[in-house]
Amino acid sequence: MSWIVRMAAPDDPVTTDAVIARLWDLGSTGVAEIGPPAVDGPQLLAGFDDDATAARVADALGGTVERVAEVVVEPPPGLVRLDGPPTVVVAHPDRLDDAEAHGSDLTLTIEAGPTFGHGAHPTTHLALEAVLGLADTLVDATVLDVGAGSGVLGILAARLGAGVVATEIDPAAHEWIGRNAAANDAEIEVGPTDLTGHDPVDVALVNVLLPVHREVAADVVRLARRHIVVTGVRDDQVDEVVELYGRTVLEDRSRDAWRLLLLDGTPT
Ligand SMILES: C[S@@+](CC[C@H](N)C(=O)[O-])C[C@H]1O[C@@H](n2cnc3c(N)ncnc32)[C@H](O)[C@@H]1O
Repeated sequence: MSWIVRMAAPDDPVTTDAVIARLWDLGSTGVAEIGPPAVDGPQLLAGFDDDATAARVADALGGTVERVAEVVVEPPPGLVRLDGPPTVVVAHPDRLDDAEAHGSDLTLTIEAGPTFGHGAHPTTHLALEAVLGLADTLVDATVLDVGAGSGVLGILAARLGAGVVATEIDPAAHEWIGRNAAANDAEIEVGPTDLTGHDPVDVALVNVLLPVHREVAADVVRLARRHIVVTGVRDDQVDEVVELYGRTVLEDRSRDAWRLLLLDGTPT
């Protein structure tokens, strides 16, 4: 078990270097600087092996603490800086008990490259938690991961036993989806972004921004039979999104002004 302290990165590189040096002094096991498109503004993530130290660091430097299964930041080990999103660990802060119930091998290592979905964004975390919450229903289920980015959500679903088709409008991401799937012993098929000819699925995972929800909601509602996991939505966009999908909201979770809705796939 590890803890990540997340904080806004200072505006200037000199102060950022000083904060990173301080994080190492305070016993961090790995420090990453990440920026858009994964997060709204530059952030520093620092891993710690114990919660008390993480809490002290968060108090001292103004950050928040997240519990994860493991901190893996590479390359290189003991990394100082990366230009883009780091290879991150995905684990899920709040659903570790669920993961443990499904075996201890659910930690994913995702190399996001230029894609979205290295696991540090609140919407990705919320969606991973939702997938874990559905774990019991995912064995032999079919899953459509719309806007897969690095493939992180579909990969977790595949590791939980689902057959997964991912769609991603950015062709550069397709290679990373394949690479991450292979690295995590998961099989993911990349399918067309035009969903009109897609077969029905049990679960749809949709972490995209509002304009994309407007594009895909009707197709997703038609295709998903059991559950729809919707995120990428801000607090002030929820009403429109609920209306777009027109399905019963089973769960409504929030983190940092981002929301996740678990929708019942069956027509109301
Ligand atoms: C917020 S990211 C989510 C990535 C990942 N699923 C996660 O949860 O971290 C949304 C992704 O949707 C992709 N995207 C945007 N419009 C799309 C569309 N119409 N069909 C498929 N993918 C789309 C973007 O390129 C981006 O990678």
